[in-house]
Amino acid sequence: MSQEEMRDVVELSVDGPVATVTLQREKQLNALNRAVLTKISEVAAAVAERSDVRVVLLRGAGRAFAAGADIAQMRDFSAADAEAFSRLGQAAFAALEALPQPTIALVHGYALGGGLELAMACDIRIAAEGAKFGQPEVTLGVVPGFGGSQRLPRLIGQGNALYLLLTGEMVDAAEAMRLGLVSKVVPQDELETAGRQLAERLLTLGPYALAGVKRTVYEGAELDLHSGLRMEAGRFGLCFAHPEQTEGMTAFLERRKPDFPQASLDEGGAAR
Ligand code: CAA
Repeated sequence: MSQEEMRDVVELSVDGPVATVTLQREKQLNALNRAVLTKISEVAAAVAERSDVRVVLLRGAGRAFAAGADIAQMRDFSAADAEAFSRLGQAAFAALEALPQPTIALVHGYALGGGLELAMACDIRIAAEGAKFGQPEVTLGVVPGFGGSQRLPRLIGQGNALYLLLTGEMVDAAEAMRLGLVSKVVPQDELETAGRQLAERLLTLGPYALAGVKRTVYEGAELDLHSGLRMEAGRFGLCFAHPEQTEGMTAFLERRKPDFPQASLDEGGAAR
């Protein structure tokens, strides 16, 4: 087995409270095959159990974030194989989205098809100048399979999503920013620093409130407005049974920076 084959296709490294998940199929531009998707699920399950991890960065090694699902692996799929593959990818990305920790995709090179779907399963996306985004599935005779037809319209609106999905066109980072697909564009050599800086900011905040924001937003997206507002009120109430609220509001009134208790996700009412 070559050195390349021995390396794990997805690496999890933890540096203090920040976990970095790196896709490592550089030669195939991090094309997502079964092995990669399975590993993403495993990594997400491992991170979910680690209360010492407070922010997750997701990146691709080499010259792309990810150029999509692995076309070589998919070409000879039967309909049943393809559906199972779609479910595998959807489950992996749902596990990422369900993490209590905020996740940040650092996108450089290409985020195409499944690659863009992976970025969209993260909470925040930062793009490097020069990055290209698209859902080129139609050019291969298929619809998106890892959530693109559902998350893209929710993220950027149906009209712009249909434009990208129906044309298969790639857009650059500036256009992705205009569309609301990414929150920030930075020079490529500043991408890691930008990710670190954003992680540092999130580390000053309370993990319970951050996890609560994620759940309220993602669960709310599945609800009608009335039900969503009721759910929000319930979660707002739960915050007042948690020490983060006491500290956050007391610090404000005492004109000092809050010092949020860490690793306290489940105290005083579960945020998960
Ligand atoms: N699947 C499998 N292999 C891929 C791949 C993919 N999605 N994308 C790139 N690769 C491989 C290439 O085959 C090539 O391998 P070899 O060196 O062995 O030939 C290697 O990665 C480098 O790629 P290129 O030589 O093509 O690099 P380039 O710089 O000329 O082009 C690119 C880059 C524009 C991203 C081009 O590789 C490309 O168009 N890739 C496919 C993009 C795509 O269609 N993605 C959607 C996949 S379908 C999907 O994702 C469905 C879903 O929703 C689940």
